Amino acid sequence: MRAVQWDDNGVQLLDQTLLPHQQVYLFLDDYRQVIEAIVNMRVRGAPAIGVAGAYGVALAVRECMADAPSFGERLKEAASALSNARPTAVNLSWAVERVLGATQREDSTTPFERALQEAHSILAEDVAANHRIGEEGAALLKPGSQVLTHCNTGALATGGWGTALGVVRSAWVQKTLQQVYLTESRPLLQGARLTAWELVQEGIPATLIVDGAAGFLFQRTKIDAVVLGADRIAANGDVANKIGTFGLAVLAKEHGVPFYVAAPISTIDLRTPNGEAIPIEERSPEEVVSLGGNRVAANGIDVWNPSFDVTPASYISGIITERGVARAPFVDSLRSLVGEADG
Ligand code: MRU
Repeated sequence: MRAVQWDDNGVQLLDQTLLPHQQVYLFLDDYRQVIEAIVNMRVRGAPAIGVAGAYGVALAVRECMADAPSFGERLKEAASALSNARPTAVNLSWAVERVLGATQREDSTTPFERALQEAHSILAEDVAANHRIGEEGAALLKPGSQVLTHCNTGALATGGWGTALGVVRSAWVQKTLQQVYLTESRPLLQGARLTAWELVQEGIPATLIVDGAAGFLFQRTKIDAVVLGADRIAANGDVANKIGTFGLAVLAKEHGVPFYVAAPISTIDLRTPNGEAIPIEERSPEEVVSLGGNRVAANGIDVWNPSFDVTPASYISGIITERGVARAPFVDSLRSLVGEADG
């Protein structure tokens, strides 16, 4: 299952707003359609929107090449619109910048060919990173483990396999996972709609809970680890992830359960010093007052709908990446993991 891929002349994207009941693939050949798909969460999950953004830049390059004199200026505008489609997941701006950089390289290919090649590389590297993250994370789990996860961090949220759900998948393959608990992840139900769908297809034993049941789950059940994803990891190890993550971190600490964040190196943003500096997307109140398109909240109520929260580094037992597991002090461990990439 691929959330995003290139298909001859454009981007093929599985519309996640329709899952699990309908599997509809969209064909996008204009970068503006890619922006629409990211804003409206037809594609979502930090690495997957990075891949979509990368292909979006390739589409923009193809369009802008037709008008050579204004190429640079128009491409810059398109790239900035793509980067800003969702602000919290750093993978999006990281991928857009990377593809833009590739277009500026001097060689015998066209800027479009270079952009497309770079987007292909971002996708392939993400899939490889996820498999490594899966192995690194599975090694942290003892046989018979029961794991709690949040939101959707699986094949749908990435190039393939998944980050935190990749750890769950790898642990299942290695027979160390007994079962996974997953939160429904209101308001858009990425857990109930997407993670549940992925787990049922794989035949991995999984139990869905409402977000509000997490505390009672810790009291009544043996939870061996919480493993979830990240949209941006600041230089000090503070993590922005789906709203509700911080609450789970507090519960894990209270119950002495390890709390792991699984994410590729592309989610680590050393330019952002700490969680306070991470831009947190606030989405439409409509997502909160409605369920499945039906209004459930009383008319006239005010709503606050932050899509993400920030978990301070002090709550995090380890950050599982494709280059190993970073531990406190994260300022040092993250810098050395990221540094290995660039060195
Ligand atoms: O709003 P979403 O569905 O894009 O949020 C997704 C998450 O918060 C994921 O945990 C994160 O992007 C990591 S996905 C591997």
